[in-house]
Amino acid sequence: GRKVILDVDTGTDDAVAIMFAALHPELDLLGVTTVNGNVPLENTTDNTLRVLDWIGCPDVPVHPGVPHPIALFGFPGGRHFDTDDEHDPHGTALPIPAPRTAARDTGAVEYLVETLRATTEPITLVPVGPLSNIATALAVDPTVAGAVDELVVMGGGHTVTNVTASAEFNIWADPEAANVVLSADFTRRTLVTLDATHRALVPQRTCDALDALGTPAGTAAARFIARRIGAYEQTAVGAAPVHDVVCTAYLVAPEVISTQHLPVVVETASPLTVGRTVIDTRPHAKAEPNAHVALDADAQLLNDLLLATFAREAAS
Ligand code: BDR
Ligand code: CA
Repeated sequence: GRKVILDVDTGTDDAVAIMFAALHPELDLLGVTTVNGNVPLENTTDNTLRVLDWIGCPDVPVHPGVPHPIALFGFPGGRHFDTDDEHDPHGTALPIPAPRTAARDTGAVEYLVETLRATTEPITLVPVGPLSNIATALAVDPTVAGAVDELVVMGGGHTVTNVTASAEFNIWADPEAANVVLSADFTRRTLVTLDATHRALVPQRTCDALDALGTPAGTAAARFIARRIGAYEQTAVGAAPVHDVVCTAYLVAPEVISTQHLPVVVETASPLTVGRTVIDTRPHAKAEPNAHVALDADAQLLNDLLLATFAREAAS
């Protein structure tokens, strides 16, 4: 299977992405690194361990990462994240008990650098949280990008934003890290933006079908997605984007998104637009394209893939 490292800030949609990657037979989930984001690092690590324990995958190593944005000096105390509607900080409202498995002693940055240096096969790196871990690993050793066959990032937005009028959360939460990652020497870089994830909504009937599987992963995914549908009722009635799983679905079915090769840079200076992904869609754009940017997605295909992947657990 395709070798994958997920970098997460779990998070309800991260949880669904982790389960998808762990369950899909074509994906070999080597490890999961955690980062500060939706909730503080301690909680993203704990939530990640709970999810892997719950679905019977306690052997997937979890490495805790960077607890704050890389330009901490610019943002004393970090940013305020207010995402409690979508994400439960402690997992208590979720059908998942505390983990039995501990996080690994090796931190995320060391794990990423060591694993990418040592690998003889290419690894697909999938960050679906703020890019603090990936940028720090690149600062330690920029050549590790060469071991990655594809970097698949959930982040940014062209016409759709969420955390501010200008910005998407993952990029806004560490904009300097995003620019490091966008300019690093990766073979192929794919950016799954909010424009795409908001086209791939997951409706209540998919939750019902996941729940009906009666498996740990199915019932947990149903609960996570139902929680998201509740939180998104002002945006989409009876359905919600499950941003991060679009990235893991793309790994097994590239047609789930449509991409354009475009220049992307992140605003870091202006208070009004900090964290904005400036995506140049003009045909005469002068800058070199640096990312395959997804601005659209196939909702039907995503929902089909979700159900088929989670149903495999029931069959096995
Ligand atoms: C992204 O931010 C987080 O809230 C989600 O987990 C997702 O990765 C969406 O903007
Ligand atoms: Ca996330």
